[in-house]
Amino acid sequence: MATEMALVKPISKFGTSSPIFSNSRYGKFTTVRMSSTSQSTAKAAAKGGKKAAKTAIKETLLTPRFYTTDFDEMEALFNTEINKNLNQSEFEALLQEFKTDYNQTHFVRNKEFKEAADKIDGPLRQIFVEFLERSCTAEFSGFLLYKELGRRLKKTNPVVAEIFSLMSRDEARHAGFLNKGLSDFNLALDLGFLTKARKYTFFKPKFIFYATYLSEKIGYWRYITIYRHLKENPEYQCYPIFKYFENWCQDENRHGDFFSALLKAQPQFLNDWKAKLWSRFFCLSVYVTMYLNDCQRTAFYEGIGLDTKEFDMHVIIEVRFWFHCYSVRPWHITFNEL
Ligand SMILES: [Fe+2]
Ligand SMILES: [Fe+2]
Repeated sequence: MATEMALVKPISKFGTSSPIFSNSRYGKFTTVRMSSTSQSTAKAAAKGGKKAAKTAIKETLLTPRFYTTDFDEMEALFNTEINKNLNQSEFEALLQEFKTDYNQTHFVRNKEFKEAADKIDGPLRQIFVEFLERSCTAEFSGFLLYKELGRRLKKTNPVVAEIFSLMSRDEARHAGFLNKGLSDFNLALDLGFLTKARKYTFFKPKFIFYATYLSEKIGYWRYITIYRHLKENPEYQCYPIFKYFENWCQDENRHGDFFSALLKAQPQFLNDWKAKLWSRFFCLSVYVTMYLNDCQRTAFYEGIGLDTKEFDMHVIIEVRFWFHCYSVRPWHITFNEL
């Protein structure tokens, strides 16, 4: 998953503020045990103080969440003897795609990271740390959910189970890369502790499908939009992680394609009036959550030369356009009609 990250095409207008640079250095390495989304926590952690490791998380409605679901229902949904809509040959083809592992050697760091982090100072430094923490938490959330689905579906549908396992590989890689980014700021998320201590939000399988499908596709558009924008405006390229977004977002796109195939195999989640209402509700709530999250962090987007509202509108329009152009199935149209 990647909803906390952003985005795809250049946006017409951008903010005018420039990245803030300095040569200041921060103290010793600190492990943050919770997703410290509050500015005060990030600030304390950035200073390398011991208090940062003990600061309690400030959970809000918009904090990236961890999800769990009804795994027994999931097993029934992917049992080929019960569900005759499962297109196993399509899943086999997708599995081969995931096994190819296009990004196996993509996430390799270099010395530019630390050097760039040391030059980021002032409010932008805090907001950068928060961006890395939230993004890492969101990617790690995907890892946990997909890993468990891979484990639970092994007997029922080994092909689907292996795809989930390979998607959890991708998300672990993304989360790990972001966590290494935090080390450039002398911080690290304690992901083991986070796994045990964090509250899990329960969603029925139907809602897991809606939410993850949207989150993967939105994540793709957010990453690629940022990548293309910074390629055209290199003066805002203040940290090298964005250079990795072009290949990175292809992982999210593949994840979205897999959920598209999963949803096609569950027509009961798409075609009746209740499903249509729920899918519209999820579309709306995912867009609103993204917008509210981003509006709280305009300093980050302005710091990389983006206008937050234009950026979000661009992503929403592209996602809807994508559904419209590349999807002819009834449930896609449901999403598109929102
Ligand atoms: Fe991801
Ligand atoms: Fe993903």
